[in-house]
Amino acid sequence: MGETVLVTGGAGYIGSHTAYALITAGHKVVVVDNFVNSKPDALNVVSELTGAEIVVVEGDARDVKLLEHTMRDNEVTAVIHMAALKAVGESVEMPLEYYGNNLETAIATLDAMRNAGVWKFVFSSSATVYGDPESCPIPETAAIGATNPYGMTKEMIEVIIRDLAASDDRWKITSLRYFNPVGAHESGRIAEAPVGKPNNLMPMIMEVATGKRDKVMVFGNDWPTPDGTGVRDYIHIMDLVEGHVAAVEHLEQQDGYDVYNLGQGKGVSVLELIAAVEAATGKEIPYEVTDRRAGDIAECTADPTKANTVLGWKTTRTIAQASQDAWNSQSA
Ligand code: NAD
Ligand code: WQD
Repeated sequence: MGETVLVTGGAGYIGSHTAYALITAGHKVVVVDNFVNSKPDALNVVSELTGAEIVVVEGDARDVKLLEHTMRDNEVTAVIHMAALKAVGESVEMPLEYYGNNLETAIATLDAMRNAGVWKFVFSSSATVYGDPESCPIPETAAIGATNPYGMTKEMIEVIIRDLAASDDRWKITSLRYFNPVGAHESGRIAEAPVGKPNNLMPMIMEVATGKRDKVMVFGNDWPTPDGTGVRDYIHIMDLVEGHVAAVEHLEQQDGYDVYNLGQGKGVSVLELIAAVEAATGKEIPYEVTDRRAGDIAECTADPTKANTVLGWKTTRTIAQASQDAWNSQSA
C-alpha cells in the first residue's frame, strides 16, 4: 500500500528529486519547507512531470504545531527529514545557527510525529559523520567522528534517533548516510540550484561549463591518491533518491533503528570528474590547482553492500550520465 510521506526540506535539491521518485513509486508527498535554500518552482515541475498533486506547506520545520497539523490533515504515514542547513564552511562560522536549525528541526519533527502517531522516520544523514576514515570503502560499522559543526549535527541526530527507537518499539527509524550526490533528473528540469557561491565540486564545475566562472579551483594535487586530487564517491541523484523509496518501503519490516550508506562504492578524483563533464558536454573546463581546503580529506568512498542486500537497492547510473544530466539541467 502506498505511503503518504512528509518530506521536510522537500523543496531542496535532494527533496524535490525524492518527491519525484516517491510519486513515481506510487506514494503521496507532502512538503514542509521555509525556502531558506530553495524555491517552490522545483516542486511545481515535479507535479507537472508526474501529474500528481504535492501538498506544499511554507513553514518552519522547528514549528511542532504546524508539523503536527500538517501530518494529521494529510494523514501522513511516514516522514523523511531533510530540512537542514548544509554548508560545512558556514557551519564553522555560524555554529549556533547550524546546531539550532538542524537539531531543532529534527527534534520538532520527531515530537510532532509522536503527537500525531506517525512512527516511520527516515533521516538525511551524511558520510561526513565518518570524519577522516581509517580506510575506504567505509562500512556502516566504521568508527564515526565528525570534524565540523555541520557533521556534528548529523552525528548528534543519529544518536537522538537511535535512543528514541530504543525507548519505544513503535518507532521504525532509518539513517541514510549519503556520499556525494550529483546530477539531476533525466528531463533536466529539476536542477541543483545553490543560493550564492557553490561549495560543492559539481555545481562549481557547472558554473564554469555555463561560463559563469572562468575556472575550477582544484583544492590540492598532493593528496595520497592516484592523481593527487581528492577522491569521492559521486552518486547520481536519481540513484540516491531511489534509495529513499527503498528505505521507506523497507520500514514496515524493520524493528527499531538502522543505518545505511548510499553510495556507488567507486572512487572518482576531482580531475576525473572534470574530465567526465568535459566528455559529456564537449566543453573545456579550465582549472587551476590551489591549496588544500581546510578540513578536506584525501578519500571518502562507501561500502554500499548493506543497502544492496537489505534494502534491495543498487545504483544503476554512471558518472558520465550524471555529468550529462547535470549539464542538461544547467543549460536548459
Ligand atoms: P538543500 O539546501 O537543497 O535542501 C534543504 C532544504 O531544507 C531546503 O529546501 C531548505 O529551504 C530547507 N530548510 C532548511 N531549514 C529549514 C527549516 N528550519 N524549516 C523548513 N525548511 C528548512 O540541501 P540538499 O542537498 O537537498 O540536502 C537535503 C538533506 O540532505 C539535508 O539534510 C542535507 O544535510 C543532507 N545531505 C546533503 C548532501 C549533499 O551533498 N547535498 C550530502 C549528505 C547529506
Ligand atoms: C569534493 C572534492 C574537494 C570544490 C561535502 C560535505 C559533505 C556532504 C557533501 C553534506 C573534494 C574538491 C571541491 C571545489 C575542489 N554534504 N573540490 N574544488 O567535501 O566531499 O563533501 O559535500 O552532507 O558533508 O563535506 O564535497 O563537493 O565539496 O568536494 O577541488 O571548488 O572536490 O577538495 O576533494 P565533500 P565537495
